[in-house]
Amino acid sequence: MIFEATMPGVIQIRTEIPGPKSRALLARRAAAVPRGVPAVTPIAVAHAEGAVVTDADGNRLIDFGGGIGVVNTGHRHPGVVEAVRAQLDRFAHVCFPVSTYEPYVELAERLNRLTPGTHDKRTFLVNSGAEAVENAVKVARAFTGRSAIVCFEHGFHGRTNLAMALTSKVMPYKKGFGPFAPEVYRIPYPYCYRCERAPLPAGRCCMADRDHLERLFAATVDPESVAAIVMELELGEGGFVPAPAEYVQMLAAFAREHGILFVADEIQTGFGRTGTMFACEHYGLTPDIITTAKSLAGGLPLAAVTGRADVMEAAQPGGLGGTYGGNPLACSAALAVLDAMERERIPERARWAGERVGAQFRRWAESTWCIGDVRGLGAMIGMELVADPVSRAPDKELTGRLLAGALRRGLILLSAGTYGNVIRVLAPLTTEDAVLDEGLAVMGEALMEAVAGSRQRL
Ligand SMILES: Cc1ncc(COP(=O)(O)O)c(C=O)c1O
Repeated sequence: MIFEATMPGVIQIRTEIPGPKSRALLARRAAAVPRGVPAVTPIAVAHAEGAVVTDADGNRLIDFGGGIGVVNTGHRHPGVVEAVRAQLDRFAHVCFPVSTYEPYVELAERLNRLTPGTHDKRTFLVNSGAEAVENAVKVARAFTGRSAIVCFEHGFHGRTNLAMALTSKVMPYKKGFGPFAPEVYRIPYPYCYRCERAPLPAGRCCMADRDHLERLFAATVDPESVAAIVMELELGEGGFVPAPAEYVQMLAAFAREHGILFVADEIQTGFGRTGTMFACEHYGLTPDIITTAKSLAGGLPLAAVTGRADVMEAAQPGGLGGTYGGNPLACSAALAVLDAMERERIPERARWAGERVGAQFRRWAESTWCIGDVRGLGAMIGMELVADPVSRAPDKELTGRLLAGALRRGLILLSAGTYGNVIRVLAPLTTEDAVLDEGLAVMGEALMEAVAGSRQRL
């Protein structure tokens, strides 16, 4: 079925989605690439600009997925394109551990200044989020001489062995892939909507209780053997759940008292997404180490580990780095991203976009029974879909129908959550107002259709 756009806008649907050319490439993909690498949408991309993706069949779609939070500055930001081209004309690779180049050093300097805290810091660069998290743990262990790491239920930190161990969601990330790295201890995330403890008034957290934390560690791991706590301040993959401020502050104080380092995983929350450059700023938190990736380099693969100088200097020469880490093209892209963040006031723009999206989600929640919770910091907004508002049973099927309906109408949308029932918005933060509204209108139509489908099933 081909959907006609209900109003003139950027979406242009020429064929059913996926069209014949997308289907043909996906068939080749299935024969050449293992199924373990997911294909979240069945479209083949020919071009992407700003918040608009054109597929191989000439359909124009709005992108609310942003390459899973990678293009906060939009696809092909002109500054990024220009910086990468200029760097390519100079050199593409020499290997930073072999020969030093300025874009790497300048990026490290800027991240040291930009990340929370005015203390002396150091940064080194790697290729992916998982690699950044693994390296943060290496550094924390080297500095503290301790081995245990504390992480959270519903957390996601990547697909390498240690990152998998730190990740909570079994399907699809862990099933069949063990044994996992040892000395990893998991504690509950302050996920208020699904909290099983006695509820407190809105804005308060029942887990922000020192005795509760002491008991939790007493039953889990000796705090004196813990090198680091690794935390997403708003769960990304785990369902866009922001931690309450009082919980984070209490946990940070507990960590400090026990000589435990606080590692903030800002791979998804970073670079303006939450309405501040980093989510830490919402909490007044100065982490010992912060990991960043995704929107750092506007689409090029790059990740960073930034931390207290004394902590970061604990690893011996040769213990950190790699062949490609801090590739010059990616560093040049990242410098252009940071310029754009400042010049175009992207975090501010995220606050505004988040209010608009959140207000729309709340309006839908008032008129439909299936939206159990609307939440998030800045533009990192999600809505949790449930089969029944009383039992709060997650509705993954409804979520899938909403995503499929949105795609048929020309909107790329992603889900999240341990139970696969959260709709998350990761649209570029540079998305024009009219395009954001057009995307929301399409999402609204798809939601109503998906809800009508649920009623028919009853
Ligand atoms: C919070 C967080 N940490 C780590 C990762 C892993 O990043 P990558 O996929 O680049 O390895 C992700 C990816 O989604 C993430 O959201």
